[in-house]
Amino acid sequence: MGLLWTGAIAPATAGPESAKHGKYLFDAAGCLGCHTKKDGKPLAGGRRLRTPFGHYYSPNITPHPEHGIGKWTSTDLKRSLREGVAPDGSHYFPVFPYPSYTGITDSDIADLWAYLKTVPSIAQANRPHDTKPPFGARIFMVAWKTLNFEPGPFKPDPYLSDQVNRGAYLVDVIGHCGECHTPRNAVGGLQRDRWLSGNPGGPEGEQVPNITPDRETGVGRWSDGDLDSLFRMGMTPEGDFVGGSMTEVIENSSGHLSESDLRAVIAYLRTLPPIRHKVESKKKGS
Ligand code: HEC
Ligand code: HEC
Repeated sequence: MGLLWTGAIAPATAGPESAKHGKYLFDAAGCLGCHTKKDGKPLAGGRRLRTPFGHYYSPNITPHPEHGIGKWTSTDLKRSLREGVAPDGSHYFPVFPYPSYTGITDSDIADLWAYLKTVPSIAQANRPHDTKPPFGARIFMVAWKTLNFEPGPFKPDPYLSDQVNRGAYLVDVIGHCGECHTPRNAVGGLQRDRWLSGNPGGPEGEQVPNITPDRETGVGRWSDGDLDSLFRMGMTPEGDFVGGSMTEVIENSSGHLSESDLRAVIAYLRTLPPIRHKVESKKKGS
């Protein structure tokens, strides 16, 4: 069933419907993969995220009262996603993609919260990050945020259709596609004027391709059907399968999108300004 963008922030759906919609958003947002280590318990954290600034380990976000977020309120979750701030007032590192999630609407955060409360609680302690200075210092994030972070919920563009706005919300906010597909500056901030034009220094050192409609270096020659096959099954127009971290996006996120949401994603990608920027596709393990 399609969840069309209405142009306004709808009130949070009540009861079990809220948790059900929360699960749909949770999948689309890829929360599971990052917060689960290989062969680990779901959402208990400990997955290593390799960045140019060092190794970060995701925390436990199950409802465990000591090791997870069992003592949190929905306001704490909202503050973490919207502002990148922890309940004790300290700042999160942007390896947690709150620079994208800041756009999640209040009612969608309420639904995510309703779902997170239903997952099994797991007693697994958090592992400290292993980073290079100053990228391990939370206080450094204050300056970083002034330059690289603009908080606030997604605002639909009145000049675009509901479908394109829904796609923008799914791509730029929920799917946080820009976190991998947009190049970053020297301190890891997203270069918003080069949005989705490809990133030679993606997660785990990957080459992440340009997905703007540029015909030479982006996906301008792909048909809607080509994009649809990629998002559902990971198949490219050449009949190859995409690799690296995109595999996870397809398995956990885009492959679960409703028909109308998938169409919205494709419609939005078509409206992006084409940017010429060649990123050599280099398969993992280089
Ligand atoms: C790209 C990987 C990644 C994704 C995707 C991701 N997270 Fe996280 N998340 C992290 C990391 C890493 C941290 C720790 C950041 C820090 O220590 O500053 C974190 C922190 C958190 C925290 C704070 C936990 C605490 O103990 O303070 C919450 C809550 C959270 N994430 C929820 C979510 C939800 C909900 C989603 C999906 C909407 C999500 N995350 C998606 C990597 C990710
Ligand atoms: C965790 C990082 C990550 C995220 C998040 C991500 N991608 Fe990707 N994406 C990749 C990588 C890496 C590749 C290249 C895979 C390869 O070379 O086989 C890729 C490939 C693609 C391709 C194929 C392009 C080509 O030229 O082959 C498209 C289209 C795409 N992604 C769209 C998206 C969209 C839309 C989203 C958000 C819903 C998204 N991606 C989220 C990492 C990511």
